[in-house]
Amino acid sequence: MAEYIKNKQKKKEEEMKDKLLAKFAEVFGSSEGAKVYFAPGRVNLIGEHTDYNGGYVFPAALTLGTYGVARKRNDRRLRFYTMNYNRVDIVESTLDDLVPLKKSGWTAYPKGVMWAFKERGMEMDCGMDFLLKGTIPGSSGLSSSASVEVLTGFILRDLYGFKVTNRDLALIGQYSENNYNGVNCGIMDQFSIAMGKKKQAIFLDTDTLNFNYVPVKLKGAKIVISCSNKRRGLGDSKYNERRSECETALAELQKEISIDSLAELDEEEFERYQYAIKDETRRKRAKHAVYENQRTIKAVEALEKSDMEAFGRLMNESHISLRDDYEVTGIELDTLVEEAWKIEGVIGSRMTGAGFGGCTVSIVKKEAVKKFIKKVGKAYKKKIGYYADFYVVKLGNGPKVIY
Ligand code: GLA
Repeated sequence: MAEYIKNKQKKKEEEMKDKLLAKFAEVFGSSEGAKVYFAPGRVNLIGEHTDYNGGYVFPAALTLGTYGVARKRNDRRLRFYTMNYNRVDIVESTLDDLVPLKKSGWTAYPKGVMWAFKERGMEMDCGMDFLLKGTIPGSSGLSSSASVEVLTGFILRDLYGFKVTNRDLALIGQYSENNYNGVNCGIMDQFSIAMGKKKQAIFLDTDTLNFNYVPVKLKGAKIVISCSNKRRGLGDSKYNERRSECETALAELQKEISIDSLAELDEEEFERYQYAIKDETRRKRAKHAVYENQRTIKAVEALEKSDMEAFGRLMNESHISLRDDYEVTGIELDTLVEEAWKIEGVIGSRMTGAGFGGCTVSIVKKEAVKKFIKKVGKAYKKKIGYYADFYVVKLGNGPKVIY
């Protein structure tokens, strides 16, 4: 059986490779010398908005992700093409045009990484042709942008021989997102994508970057992603706002207690010192960061003991905290989660990623998956007016060369 599934996956990958190379040849004239790569997307099981507060996260790489085909050029031009939009134009640039914060649409992600390599003294000596195809729904909270960043870094290492580890690829990706694209994200997305391992999640201490892999054995349950199809829109600026609310709360707490991050507090300490935070909204934000961090530790313990009930309960509590204290959910994500909670066979359900739209993640007993998709889908359409999409996902490996 396992052999059969393996062969089927291999065949699918072969077909994808052929399709990508054919498109590359059509767009860039030929596919001679072009190589094919893949980097995953990620889902965060629990530990949301903790990674810029020095806390734990528990994400995993997916088998969905971004494919890239690339080839070096013998001039300084950069030519990009995506198969994800119904447009046929190549986006042209050059190595001399890698300018931070300059609006350049989706190409800002690969360009940002090229710039970030250069910032670290690793300069590309020639340009490249680069075709991308993502299988992650865009703006879904499954990190399509971090996937492109890690993919680009991986390709640069392979084609230009830069000496970097996968951990470096994560840090370079985050650096480019912060400084080239102006989103102050933490390290979770890029790290889980660069370091992903099949069937495992990563219990990562974002303060030290120490981590361990934890097998995700769901005992007859599946991971279902429900995509709200609500675009993040203002999300990036709200994201930065949450981050600075946490920073201010930390500074207020530091007047009373010696800590370097919110995650250094446990629930009891937070309750003891929370008076130091002068504003009710900021107090709620900090409370989420502290409690969510503790929940993440407990959730990993629960999973390691195969206590799925406890794991699910913590996921649900995480959502409530993100809804009421951190206020990053919105009616779309709340509807998906609250409808999921009503269904028998749902072990846990919560929003995943930054929020403000995007996806939820649910652990659903195998026999309830069909019913879940039908019922949640119907209720969502009725309340929100448009459809949600559902994906039963698998946890996969980090970036790789396909051909
Ligand atoms: C986004 C960011 C991550 C993390 C999550 C929220 O995905 O890129 O660094 O902060 O939001 O947990």
